[in-house]
Amino acid sequence: MRYVYADNSATTALSPKVLEKMMPYLTEVYGNPSSIYTIGAKARAAVETARENIAKNLGAANPNEIYFTSGGSESDNWALKGVCHALKAKGKKHIISTAFEHHAVLHTLKRLETVAGEKWSFPPPLGIKFKEGREYLCHEDRHAWLYPLT
Ligand SMILES: Cc1ncc(COP(=O)(O)O)c(C=O)c1O
Repeated sequence: MRYVYADNSATTALSPKVLEKMMPYLTEVYGNPSSIYTIGAKARAAVETARENIAKNLGAANPNEIYFTSGGSESDNWALKGVCHALKAKGKKHIISTAFEHHAVLHTLKRLETVAGEKWSFPPPLGIKFKEGREYLCHEDRHAWLYPLT
């Protein structure tokens, strides 16, 4: 029976080309890139080269704009907490989300609501409406959720 794997956005098979490129770092140059010993320094050089290549391909102004994380949940946490704390300085305290976000997003927003006594307003999620057999985000009252602190 033919098997169809439909979760490639979560985990996927490694491309043979990537595996080939990664082999030295999985078998020889596997040192901790934050260390000072030789094998770690070699790994660090490879990480920095990768950062520069990714920055170039994405058109980033500076390789320092590229961060490597362990996965989706960590990235969601970084992005949301970072943005919230940056915007807090501008007096923004209102976030709009939807009910069907990943838990890594929803739980982070919920946490931000109570963090350090700060009241982060988290309105009820937008609804979903069905029209002609398709799902649509319910935008009718979206302006009701927008106000100067959003
Ligand atoms: C938006 C989002 N955040 C987080 C995750 C979880 O990623 P991870 O298992 O890498 O933490 C997923 C997984 O599908 C996701 O779609």
